Amino acid sequence: MELITVSTRAIEGQKPGTSGLRKKTKVFMGAHYLENFVAAIWAGIGGVAGKTLVVGGDGRYFNDRAVQVIIRMAAAEGAAKLIVGQNGLLSTPAASNLIRKRATNGGIILSASHNPGGPDEDFGIKFNMPNGGPAPEEVTNRIFQATKTLSEYRIAEGQDIDLSALGETTFGEMAVEIVDPVTDYAAMMEELFDFEAIGGLLAGGFRIAFDAMHAVTGLYAHEILENRLGAAPGSVLNGTPSPDFGGGHPDPNPIWAKPLVDLVMGPDAPDFAAASDGDGDRNMILGRGVYVTPSDSLAVLAANAPLVPMFREGLSGVARSMPTSGALDVVAKELGIPCFETPTGWKFFGNLLDAGLAQLCGEESAGTSGDHVREKDGLWAVLFWLNILAVSRMSVAEIMSAHWKKHGRNFYTRHDYEGVETEKAEALMESLRARLGTLPGKTHAGLTVAAADEFAYDDPVDGSKATAQGLRVAFEGGSRVVFRLSGTGTVGATLRVYLEAYEPDPAKTDGDPETALAAVIAAAEEIAGIKAHTGREGPDVRT
Ligand code: G1P
Ligand code: ZN
Repeated sequence: MELITVSTRAIEGQKPGTSGLRKKTKVFMGAHYLENFVAAIWAGIGGVAGKTLVVGGDGRYFNDRAVQVIIRMAAAEGAAKLIVGQNGLLSTPAASNLIRKRATNGGIILSASHNPGGPDEDFGIKFNMPNGGPAPEEVTNRIFQATKTLSEYRIAEGQDIDLSALGETTFGEMAVEIVDPVTDYAAMMEELFDFEAIGGLLAGGFRIAFDAMHAVTGLYAHEILENRLGAAPGSVLNGTPSPDFGGGHPDPNPIWAKPLVDLVMGPDAPDFAAASDGDGDRNMILGRGVYVTPSDSLAVLAANAPLVPMFREGLSGVARSMPTSGALDVVAKELGIPCFETPTGWKFFGNLLDAGLAQLCGEESAGTSGDHVREKDGLWAVLFWLNILAVSRMSVAEIMSAHWKKHGRNFYTRHDYEGVETEKAEALMESLRARLGTLPGKTHAGLTVAAADEFAYDDPVDGSKATAQGLRVAFEGGSRVVFRLSGTGTVGATLRVYLEAYEPDPAKTDGDPETALAAVIAAAEEIAGIKAHTGREGPDVRT
């Protein structure tokens, strides 16, 4: 093994966002781009010498090349060992599990999640801590600082490692263990859920469809749903990972997984359907004739938690990101357990999970998970639902309807304005931020503003503070709108407008959210001037 020290120059803009560093794949493939960032990770974590890390990704274009670069750069710095998913593949929750289970010093996950993949699309990289969770801001800030001062990095010369061959090999002095990406994860799922009950449900003719969206979860879904639980062959759709996700966005929502939504709304609907994203941490839940919003799904899981072995004893607490609907809060209140409200991004749940303050967490963006890993976990949420359905013997529609009758319904929708010019999006936010103090008491579209502020979070475990986490306007009667700029995009700005209204009357819980939220939508436009600022007539995506 020959060591080379490469002179480099700081590259601008290598600032990790909501979930690691995401850029166009071609940017990552540019000279020194990936190498600089990996060197900055080493600097940000206090060096990699003597350490053991997990490495894997969602299989998107450039995943395999990036793994080889990481191997050579870790070896050059004297890392003890890398545990790598076969063919460079690991879903994000499976990586989180391996990091924890093998008591490693953390891991590197290669993914841009639900963003499209391919030479002209997106790539991403993030560091996860020894607890299996995304690095907190203190660490990502150190990594970012390091990207600004870098002048060289070290890399080892050598042949590529054969990523397809399971077992242990070496690269120079460093051990490289290639592991099956599914085995440990599937074993964990068997412990957490009642596979016998789910298998019994499926054997009784209950039909499911799982859309892996040409992404990494296909491997896991084939093994768990079809091989271990006995779902009919063909229940897993688009189950072979491809570097460009079949040319689509591996984003499990009614826009990008429309064929699946059409299937459950059509005459030959299965009893249950679900989809997951590029790296397997998101989920979408559907039943025959029903789409379950992620916020509602989270509340249903909390309300039914004791039905699954993992939470047989009940929950100590729950948490949701601020823009996620208050449906979870209603359940938590009834259960008499705390419900924490965190900024957007899974990293903020880590401390709550580590401290046992929360055991179930979720985001409106289709992320849900428990304290078994420190990432959101798409298939886990699917199995949780199947377990509930198997034990309760109710349909998805019956569960939703019963839930709303008992707890009321938080009508919810999110409007995204994508690819807005950054200055225009920032001007909208700045103008609104400046007017927040003047809003209370004013009436817009018939709704009176009760409170308006910019969300900030004090972590109850380590006291860290996160500011500027979204602008919130609450109306009398419990409805609200939240404005945020996305931290995961790679082009321009994405304005997210989160709209919510609570309906306690059991007689009024049916209906279409866009209709139920018409007044809140109109008030949001009046307050923020979205059309005037962005020049857009309406949102690009409603989820
Ligand atoms: C989005 C979601 C957020 C999620 C993140 C990573 O971030 O809104 O909930 O944690 O992706 O999957 P955003 O683009 O809004 O910053
Ligand atoms: Zn994801």
